[in-house]
Amino acid sequence: MSLITANGAHAAEKIDLIIDTDPGADDVIALLFALASPQELSIRALTTVAGNVRLDKTSRNARLAREWAGREDVPVYAGAKKPLMRKPIYAEDIHGKEGLSGITVHEPKKGLAEGNAIQYLIDTLMAAKSHSITIAILGPQTNLALALIQEPEIVRGIKEVVIMGGAHFNGGNITPVAEFNLFADPQAAEVVLKSGVKLTYLPLDVTHKILTSDTRLQQIAALNNNASKRVVDILNEYIKADMEHYGIPGGPVHDATVIAYLLRPQLFSGREVNVVIDSREGPTLGQTIVDWYDSLKAPKNAFWVENGDAQGFFDLLTERLARLK
Ligand code: BDR
Ligand code: CA
Repeated sequence: MSLITANGAHAAEKIDLIIDTDPGADDVIALLFALASPQELSIRALTTVAGNVRLDKTSRNARLAREWAGREDVPVYAGAKKPLMRKPIYAEDIHGKEGLSGITVHEPKKGLAEGNAIQYLIDTLMAAKSHSITIAILGPQTNLALALIQEPEIVRGIKEVVIMGGAHFNGGNITPVAEFNLFADPQAAEVVLKSGVKLTYLPLDVTHKILTSDTRLQQIAALNNNASKRVVDILNEYIKADMEHYGIPGGPVHDATVIAYLLRPQLFSGREVNVVIDSREGPTLGQTIVDWYDSLKAPKNAFWVENGDAQGFFDLLTERLARLK
């Protein structure tokens, strides 16, 4: 949809956005990317969840990203300390002990917002205009699931939920079939899936097609600002594990693809599909079963992104990082 500006030009309507996140190296890059894009994204708040590391660290890292982006105007609400039913699992092996590989962390000047993320989601979505707020989820889906359980009526405030998670074509990254965010809290993902909200998934299928390369990292480094230095330092460390594990020439920047999708959906392609999440204990826990060929003729409940323009992604990320200090 577009609006007519004072000079008669068409301006795209801003996305009214809440980012739910577990920073996390790639989460921090996603947050810098989003916070550098105020023309398109009106970010109401960042809400944090335990995931890559403990909640206190994910909340600190979200506040760091906000500070580094010079966007202390955006509140950060801390949410769930653990998944709905499972014991927390962390990904310190990939993201480092502090959840932020490749750089040193400090305690940011500005603290958390008062209140918690779940109540914030409920209050904000209940007060919102019908189907007006987009939620980007970059970690386990615990916060939104808890909000939906406590107040199912919040679906009316939601325009769309855009999720980094899931895996179909080439298997998982935490088990042979499951992706980390869904494996960490499969019951939460199931609650969100069954809520009937409009869902878009950016799974490993697409994030593993959008890989760093020396040239792409040099392109970011050439900006030579603090943001670009941080992103390159984070990525140089973060990509090592995936490059080694999969034998691929570069690493994915999973969560940042969600932001690119919001800013430039035309860079991506996918299909409306029926998706089911396996939430039973066992070898397929956290697996996303995607009916890509419509074998079941079951109702389509998500848009599954399968492909993306890798160079387009890195060009957009570079352009936005250039706007930061
Ligand atoms: C997802 O898992 C986390 O470790 C990353 O931050 C990303 O959200 C990728 O599977
Ligand atoms: Ca994440």
